[in-house]
Amino acid sequence: MQSLPGFRDFLPDDCAVRNYIFACWREVARRYGFIEWDGPLLEPTELYKKKSGAEIVDQLFNFIDKGEREVAMRPELTPSLARVIAAHEREFKKPLKWFSIGQFFRYEKQQRGRLREHFQLNCDVIGEANLAADIELVALCIDLLRGFGFTEKDFFVRISDRDFWTDFLREKDVPADRWDELLQAIDKSGREPREKTAEKLGKLADPIFSILNSGGTSEKLDQLVDGLRERGLSDYVAIDVGIVRGLAYYTGAVFEVFDRAGKFRAIAGGGRYDNLVAQLSDSAVSLPALGFAMGDVVLGELVNETVHARQKLEKAIADDRKIDIYVVIAKEQRRGDALKQIQQLRDRGYRVDYPLTSEKVGKQFQTAEQLGAHVAILFGDEWPQVKIKNMGTAAQELVLWEELTNRLPELR
Ligand code: HAM
Repeated sequence: MQSLPGFRDFLPDDCAVRNYIFACWREVARRYGFIEWDGPLLEPTELYKKKSGAEIVDQLFNFIDKGEREVAMRPELTPSLARVIAAHEREFKKPLKWFSIGQFFRYEKQQRGRLREHFQLNCDVIGEANLAADIELVALCIDLLRGFGFTEKDFFVRISDRDFWTDFLREKDVPADRWDELLQAIDKSGREPREKTAEKLGKLADPIFSILNSGGTSEKLDQLVDGLRERGLSDYVAIDVGIVRGLAYYTGAVFEVFDRAGKFRAIAGGGRYDNLVAQLSDSAVSLPALGFAMGDVVLGELVNETVHARQKLEKAIADDRKIDIYVVIAKEQRRGDALKQIQQLRDRGYRVDYPLTSEKVGKQFQTAEQLGAHVAILFGDEWPQVKIKNMGTAAQELVLWEELTNRLPELR
């Protein structure tokens, strides 16, 4: 039996990487005052049909459940968030700053950086229309990646503004019901042959290509960059109106994060979606909103390929795996005494391991070393004394077993 295409097994090393990524995400999001929430893995298919856009709906893992409901594994979090906000917004003081870490499912063609399941960190601000929130969010996105050890040489944020394009389309008298389709075509223009994009854009192809080539900007985007400059983060951003975002609900500033070398797909993406809460609640609740999501797949690949980020990860994983104490049972008669101590040490929060069955002493010390134990405690002929060996310096000393707990600070 094999796993399904695009689904991963997480062996212990993969889990360690995943935990490291989650821990960095959580730590930096908390630094920015975001609090954690989560939604369900399964939602009514309708939730995505209503506003995510055609691309995501094509990629849904959906089915009819036993109660004849049309349901879908969540491909993204934003529609669930908008639904939850519409139902609970009165319970919270605005603006809300919420983050979430969870798994998402998209029936995509499996390729480098794109699988059929992935984890995302989502960070969203609800109830704040001021550009200060957009700046804060881009800064958070940058700091999340700096948290992994990346610098401005490794990645950058391409920021854009959907209003720039909707203003343009309005000016060209394009009816609003065609905007989505044209925005999608612009979004894909960097990844598709020029002729294909030109065909989709029709008579607007020339002016749009000329904007894409010369690079446009807007007052809003200049302000955004200025805000990041004040924080010393402007080296991490570039205005690029070629970024439009594939999802249908974005309304204002949008951004995507890429590796500088241009080897990978987007690491993160997001923007403003000021109308989504109102659209999903049939206008019962209307709140401005913005957010982004960062995926674990491309991020993991980039960490792996970037020496300083990889070293940081390896050190963190090695430190996390270390145990404090390995108990060496040199005489089987002492196993009961040793287990009593082990229980006490674990109760006090120490990471303690020992051999489950009789083993040669040399082998036990080898295991102690492999597990990165700070000290080994030997239960043997010296009883009621036990031998404490510092695994780093190899210094040894005998202490009465009752004294062990007094020595605890040194054992870590
Ligand atoms: P998205 O751009 O569709 O945005 O996804 C965000 C990130 O998730 C991508 O940049 C990528 O790193 C990762 N990702 C997406 N699909 C896959 C896949 N099939 N395999 C691996 N990684 C993937 C959203 O999902 C928006 N809901 C983000 C957002 C939050 N906007 C506002 N708030």
